[in-house]
Amino acid sequence: MHLKENFSLKAYNTFGINAVAKYFCEFSSANDLAEILANQNDIKKMVLGGGSNILFTTNFNGIILKNNMPGINVVKEDDESIYVKAGAGVNWHQFVMYCVGNNFGGVENLSLIPGNVGASPMQNIGAYGVEIKDVFHELTAWSDMENKIQCFNNSDCEFGYRESVFKKKYKGQFIILDATFRLNKNPIFNISYGAIESELERMNVQELTIQAISEAVIKIRTSKLPDPSVIGNAGSFFKNPEIDKQELHELLQIEPALPNYKIDDEIFKIPAGWLIEQCGWKGYRKGDAGCYEKQALVLVNYGNATGKEIFDLSDEIKISVKEKFGIDLEREVNII
Ligand code: FAD
Ligand code: EPU
Repeated sequence: MHLKENFSLKAYNTFGINAVAKYFCEFSSANDLAEILANQNDIKKMVLGGGSNILFTTNFNGIILKNNMPGINVVKEDDESIYVKAGAGVNWHQFVMYCVGNNFGGVENLSLIPGNVGASPMQNIGAYGVEIKDVFHELTAWSDMENKIQCFNNSDCEFGYRESVFKKKYKGQFIILDATFRLNKNPIFNISYGAIESELERMNVQELTIQAISEAVIKIRTSKLPDPSVIGNAGSFFKNPEIDKQELHELLQIEPALPNYKIDDEIFKIPAGWLIEQCGWKGYRKGDAGCYEKQALVLVNYGNATGKEIFDLSDEIKISVKEKFGIDLEREVNII
């Protein structure tokens, strides 16, 4: 444990923003964390995983706690399920590869999502028809208020679309140490979403396996999302908005091509990428801040954009979508 001062976070966020943290410290055990916190009572704190869902718009005048908690272990099993616990600092995709390699089903559709296990329940990460809540069993987290470890089960986390209790009422209060997932010994395949089925056909897959699904998802993702090691980004910048039946009906009168997905009889999801593209932003670039040419929902840093420049671009996009469609876009990325 070594406390660094005035530390550049450029290599620690996938937007590649050159923000500076007053203090920076890495920890790999709950004991280490408790020791660091015991000496840092009155200072602003933030836990950092892979930095793939963060936009630093300013320097961080506090301590960044980089979570490196390791380990992947099977903790229990029954006839149908296998429970695997992973440290919060484990890379998410490595965890998925461990499950896919052992034929533990449930997370293959979530292949290649950047970041670490610790943020996955916080964000309720999702892709290709699966969300973490579908396989999540429990987690342990350090309570900064009470200085003790607490356990949260699935319902305690109050999961929603890219939401959990840790993003809302307990924001900034817990440091997730590990998470346990319930995986299927007899995988149930989920290929109905998006381009998975057509990709499997293109791959000429004869026998459906979770390995094949994972490979198909990886191919689709790499074809449309920018690789953060090449172009800075944090995935989808906004959430896909949900509107009610009446709003949808009115919008379809003006925009008959508006894509929409039924959530239930009253609520419909609209792809924000489509709204942003219709407003003319796709491929737009101002300095080094831009809107990705292959996926309008992804804002990018072509090199030396500041967090403020990216944030200002997101504001301009929000305003134009509101003006054209009357829809409020909500940022998905955590703004610091
Ligand atoms: P960070 O960015 O480090 O942190 C995110 C937030 O979680 C911060 O507020 C941080 O303080 C908090 N946090 C981090 N670790 C902990 C912890 N241990 N305890 C408490 N709080 C913590 N997301 C999806 O859901 N689906 C996708 O398909 C997807 N695709 C992406 C594609 C690309 C190219 C990129 C760059 C991002 C994508 N994302 C996607 C977003 C991102 O990968 C996820 O949100 C991921 O879970 C973030 O993990 P992280 O470790 O990088 O979190
Ligand atoms: N679209 C456009 N133009 C664009 C982009 C998208 O018209 O430039 C429209 C198309 O109609 C397309 C639809 O939007 O069919 C959906 O696009 P895509 O399949 O690329 O998915 P998305 O809705 O943009 C969401 C998640 C992603 C996740 C994918 C796959 C959110 C905010 N984003 O994106 O998650 O990987 O679905 O499931 O829900 C992330 O959270 O960072 C992320 C990348």
